[in-house]
Amino acid sequence: MIITIDGPAGSGKSTVAKLVAKRLGCIYLDTGAIYRSLGYLAQKMGVDTENGQKLAKLASTIKLNFSGDPTNQRVILNGEDITERIRTEEIGMAASKVSRHPEVRAALLQLQRNFAEKGCLVAEGRDTGTVVFPNAHVKVFLTASAEVRAQRRYNELLQKGVKISFEEVLESVQKRDSQDASRKVAPLKPADDAVIIDTSNLTIDQVVERILELVERWKEKHTSCS
Ligand code: DC
Repeated sequence: MIITIDGPAGSGKSTVAKLVAKRLGCIYLDTGAIYRSLGYLAQKMGVDTENGQKLAKLASTIKLNFSGDPTNQRVILNGEDITERIRTEEIGMAASKVSRHPEVRAALLQLQRNFAEKGCLVAEGRDTGTVVFPNAHVKVFLTASAEVRAQRRYNELLQKGVKISFEEVLESVQKRDSQDASRKVAPLKPADDAVIIDTSNLTIDQVVERILELVERWKEKHTSCS
């Protein structure tokens, strides 16, 4: 079974997807971490984030492993544990830049699809329901206002001791939104058959329960048909 959870930065999709994967005993695929890893590597190797072909070449060489349980997953890139390093705003922006190139998205497609070979999967990102897994069984698109999303990210960064103003975070969220929504390939948008959940006034647990209900409903429908 494949469940996709897409949405913009700060919509709560990572937290929710990890918990859904854990509750269902599924593999958790953080596709954003894949783009972040490439953004990180491009920066480290001095590859221009405007050069799609060079980035695609780089993408085809990466060896990425996710280890540990969904709520405590480590990201290992070419043997290096980069879990914390890829969570900065700077790498988020680099990820958004590298992800605009069609060649890069094509180079990373199979890597993402391979995860579904291993069993039940909860995939999270921007285009997992539209492009990566168009035949997913349950598709969810999470939204929330830019202010609510910026506030969540700001709280997270404060907790980590990062010195940044709310206005800077809001600006970064809005910039990344427009970059992700306006790119030509796989722009951020819900799949036609996705269930849209506005998380602005919902707790994490409420969102998780709603998704688990959708999964249950899908299972009931599926078993009653067979
Ligand atoms: O979800 P995130 O913030 O970790 O994603 C970082 C960037 O990666 C995001 O701004 C756009 C890109 N991305 C993408 O283009 N497609 C995905 N499926 C996931 C992320």
